[in-house]
Amino acid sequence: MNQNTRVAIYGLGNMGYPLAERIGRHFATQVFDLDAAQRQRAQDSFGAAAITGPEDVSATQTVVLCLPSPAISLSVLAQIAPRLPRGAVVVETSTVNPEHIHAQHKLLAPYGVDLIDASIMAGVGQMVAGTAALALGGSPEAIARVQPVLDAIASRQTWFGALGAGAAAKVINNAVAHAVMVVVAEAGAMATAAGVQCDKLIALLSDAQMGLHRPLTYRYAERIVQGDYAGGMPLDAARKDSVLALQLAQTLGVPLFAIQGSHSVYDMAAAAGYGREDYAAVAKLWADWGCPAVPSDAA
Ligand SMILES: NC(=O)c1ccc[n+]([C@@H]2O[C@H](COP(=O)([O-])OP(=O)(O)OC[C@H]3O[C@@H](n4cnc5c(N)ncnc54)[C@H](O)[C@@H]3O)[C@@H](O)[C@H]2O)c1
Repeated sequence: MNQNTRVAIYGLGNMGYPLAERIGRHFATQVFDLDAAQRQRAQDSFGAAAITGPEDVSATQTVVLCLPSPAISLSVLAQIAPRLPRGAVVVETSTVNPEHIHAQHKLLAPYGVDLIDASIMAGVGQMVAGTAALALGGSPEAIARVQPVLDAIASRQTWFGALGAGAAAKVINNAVAHAVMVVVAEAGAMATAAGVQCDKLIALLSDAQMGLHRPLTYRYAERIVQGDYAGGMPLDAARKDSVLALQLAQTLGVPLFAIQGSHSVYDMAAAAGYGREDYAAVAKLWADWGCPAVPSDAA
């Protein structure tokens, strides 16, 4: 137990409590949650001191937030920032956007308090089991100052870049998961209606060479990153297959949303003149719109 470093944790909810518990195994902790029962639970279980007011953190070097909304994180920081010692580091683990991290930084900077974002890439069970991962953003120097606390939370950590980059990575990861979830539900409905067994569909899409993985591991990672759209499967052919999928769904009476919406992108790419390029060329549309899918110097 490191009694010299005191860690204050705000938010002892479904995720915050097991996170605080992990920190409490290695550090003296101070905790606050609006729910008095959770504060008491932390006191009884890992000897956390309950925070009674902002003055209680006037000598605390590390503050960890695990709160339910960006506005709540900002309001907690507004209360404690004037009391925190200069050189303290706030670790924002709540799921927020980079703009919220930047607002927190603006609030903390005048008080000489640093900030890093450490988004939790896991569910509650993984946090409890110690298999959670953290997506980090912020200066390597500030991260180094709280490294032992980060290690207590999760052994798997990836630094994504400047302040807010970890938060962005988390939100992008969730966006992909949520969009793919709809695509998978649609695929399951089409397969069921067409008589394809679901275990066969799962095996098919689990194959690293098939439709779920290849757009990322080959078309994005190789073709789009290198700007290589020559040869391969022409976008016109992919569009033709996409038409077949829409026709199949119509014949089977299966409503489509994500797959239907994606088809429009192939129409636009064909109209933009990319029909004879590999279908990874759909990404060129985003470059045309001024937001390229890779930096210009990625290759
Ligand atoms: N639960 C998950 O699986 C999970 C996974 C990854 C990230 N997260 C993120 O972690 C954060 C916390 O999630 P959670 O599951 O613990 O949420 P939760 O809703 O279970 O808990 C939030 C806690 O914050 C407390 N709270 C509210 N306002 C407060 C304030 N002003 N001061 C102190 N405490 C206050 C509430 O009383 C509650 O106990 C969220 O941003 C969430 O998106 C959660």
